[in-house]
Amino acid sequence: MARQFEGTCPRSWFGLGGAVVSTNAVFDSAPAGSCPAHTISEGVSIRHLAPPPGAERVDLAEAEEFVRLYHAENPQAGPPEARLRQVRAHVERFGTYWHTADELVHGARVAWRNSSRCIGRLYWRSLRVRDRRAVAGADEIATECVAHLREAITEGRIRPTVTVFHPSAPDRPGPRIWNEQLTRYAGYRVGSTVIGDPRNLGFTDLVRRLGWAGGGGRFDLLPLVVEAPGQAPRLYDLPAEVVHEVPLTHPRFDWLAELGLRWFAVPAISNMCLEIGGICYQAAPFNGWYMGTEIGARNLGDTGRYDQLPVIAERMGLDTGSERTLWRDLALVELNVAVLHSFELAGVTITDHHTESRRFIDHLDREQRKGRRVGADWSWIVPPISGSTTPVFHRADDAAWAGTELPGSGRRRVDPERSQPQRARALHEAGLRQQRHTAARG
Ligand code: ARG
Repeated sequence: MARQFEGTCPRSWFGLGGAVVSTNAVFDSAPAGSCPAHTISEGVSIRHLAPPPGAERVDLAEAEEFVRLYHAENPQAGPPEARLRQVRAHVERFGTYWHTADELVHGARVAWRNSSRCIGRLYWRSLRVRDRRAVAGADEIATECVAHLREAITEGRIRPTVTVFHPSAPDRPGPRIWNEQLTRYAGYRVGSTVIGDPRNLGFTDLVRRLGWAGGGGRFDLLPLVVEAPGQAPRLYDLPAEVVHEVPLTHPRFDWLAELGLRWFAVPAISNMCLEIGGICYQAAPFNGWYMGTEIGARNLGDTGRYDQLPVIAERMGLDTGSERTLWRDLALVELNVAVLHSFELAGVTITDHHTESRRFIDHLDREQRKGRRVGADWSWIVPPISGSTTPVFHRADDAAWAGTELPGSGRRRVDPERSQPQRARALHEAGLRQQRHTAARG
């Protein structure tokens, strides 16, 4: 069921050159017919900005570089010259061009291959690309996001998938999904504590002000917020049956089930721009499967998230009076054991950090044999627990870490703070053209 945010700004808030809203945004109220910018209280980070990403013409050099890469890596497509001529002509005339279906598939896969913060890139060729570029309306986008979640997991087996919606063009931005991920748990401030996921406090606040009731629970699924070009954002509740969740148990500690912990199966990032050959797909949610530490170390363990280590340490009977008992470390390992055990028990795809580190080394070696550079960000690739027990830790001086930006296509966060042209310029200045991938850590 869609709930429309009643409020259109006379200054075309949600149209070209319109509003950019950060997830920390707080609407004071949104009386019909007025711009929320005029009724905002403290803590608001909504502002009118210069034209959003996509409002500028495609950078021809980026387009050409991608077309060359595509033809070089897909010999069956023949030589690039004819396509280059066509792309040049289209960019000159319309300021943009339209990827062929095959270019889109390859570009999306290369964007994954180039994601310097992702440890799971060995399988970049297996990415399934759902081409939904014809879809730009909010209702259809929400329906397709739900279909994405449904199709990404079959009997527990997760398939890396991206759904690509209408790109941004010089005369209009593409649609946008405001959620960080298609699935996220709400966070509610109650007195001095937080119920749910503190990471999503700001977003929860935002959707509540847009009319979402919120159940006040620890694991409430947030609604989707979809902004179609020129329209107010709309809210959509996810049908519960498309969100697979795994309740946590432990192979030895029966009491762990009593903590009522759970996590969802499919991480699907939805606030990053998929950039291919100078074209920005602002709405292009993509998923892989989890590495256990993302949930066991960060989501449930971080003090700024579910902060479960003190609870677990206490149930384990550890002495938390002194750091030197390493109670945090002991609890952390057992929580990670619980995550891997529970996903396996539920038959849901997950990987552990030892296996994934080795696979990443395979990927590095394979790519280097092919003569391709692998951009990699050491601080993101090394797992958050037991770093030195994994081989990636010891490749710190590998050439791969030198540059994190690579040519072809890439991913970056749809960043309200910095427009695409600004960012592109900064990268050019640094002598690093094209590839960018910025993900929200954790
Ligand atoms: N770390 C994020 C989370 O815990 C997910 C990031 C993407 N992870 C992945 N395995 N594809 O929700």
